[in-house]
Amino acid sequence: MKIAALDGGDIHVWRVRLDPEPEVVEALERTLSDDERGRANRFHFARDRRRFIVARGALRSLLARYIGGEPEDVRFAYGERGKPRMADAECPAFNVSHSGELALIAIAAAGAIGVDVEAVRDIEDRDAVAARFFSPREYACIRALPERVRTQSFFACWTRKEAFVKALGDGLSRPLDSFDVTCAPGDAPRLSIAGDPAETQKWMLTPLAPGPGFEAALVADGRDRAVSCRTWSTEVASYVTSGFSRTR
Ligand SMILES: CC(C)(COP(=O)(O)OP(=O)(O)OC[C@H]1O[C@@H](n2cnc3c(N)ncnc32)[C@H](O)[C@@H]1OP(=O)(O)O)[C@@H](O)C(=O)NCCC(=O)NCCS
Repeated sequence: MKIAALDGGDIHVWRVRLDPEPEVVEALERTLSDDERGRANRFHFARDRRRFIVARGALRSLLARYIGGEPEDVRFAYGERGKPRMADAECPAFNVSHSGELALIAIAAAGAIGVDVEAVRDIEDRDAVAARFFSPREYACIRALPERVRTQSFFACWTRKEAFVKALGDGLSRPLDSFDVTCAPGDAPRLSIAGDPAETQKWMLTPLAPGPGFEAALVADGRDRAVSCRTWSTEVASYVTSGFSRTR
């Protein structure tokens, strides 16, 4: 049974809570492959094990519904730097991110997509981290903001950069100062690749608001692709399209 058609450039972003009832965790665990179960068992803390199982199980469950198969039959392959994809090239493209008890799963018929979510939290050396990882323009922007919005903007910047890196799938092989994102409240979301307006035009940045206390972003190749945000609800064992917001 297919739950939704992915028309053309459509991108569906699913929000998944990673703390469902234990019986849901058990059911999802049964759909994992042996190597995924092995990976789950290598986590030191039960909480991290559970979060991995639910995120991977929900991913399998969703992808199976899109292609009309069983979750346990979904086969993954991995890029050089570990980016998972469906083994069959005809199958949808996807990307996953998790933070705390929340995961986001972005799915599209094809193309490069990257998603990132972070719980907004205090970081002791926040400005030093920004100086190290952000471009000079991003760092200057963060430093100019009043303290009350600085942490949120830090995570807006972080998730937007990370979503681009994840769309490329090449980890940190692209220098983090070779592209800029906007992140100040009120600034239009924008991704610019230094000295390369043609490459800049190829990408679309969409901030997401999956819930209070979280910053998130989606980056995809192409322009004006339709993005819809949905909530995966294990409680009712179905797929609720109540949605969440694309922008903060
Ligand atoms: C995977 C990576 C790209 C992101 O990791 P992260 O932000 O810690 O974790 P997220 O929860 O957002 O994403 C993890 C998921 O991304 C996917 N993933 C793994 N490798 C990936 C890659 N090379 N590209 C894209 N996605 C990848 C997997 O589905 C993974 O889920 P899993 O762990 O359940 O298998 C990480 O390897 C990395 O290189 N991070 C860069 C860290 C950094 O310094 N960023 C600075 C940003 S300003």
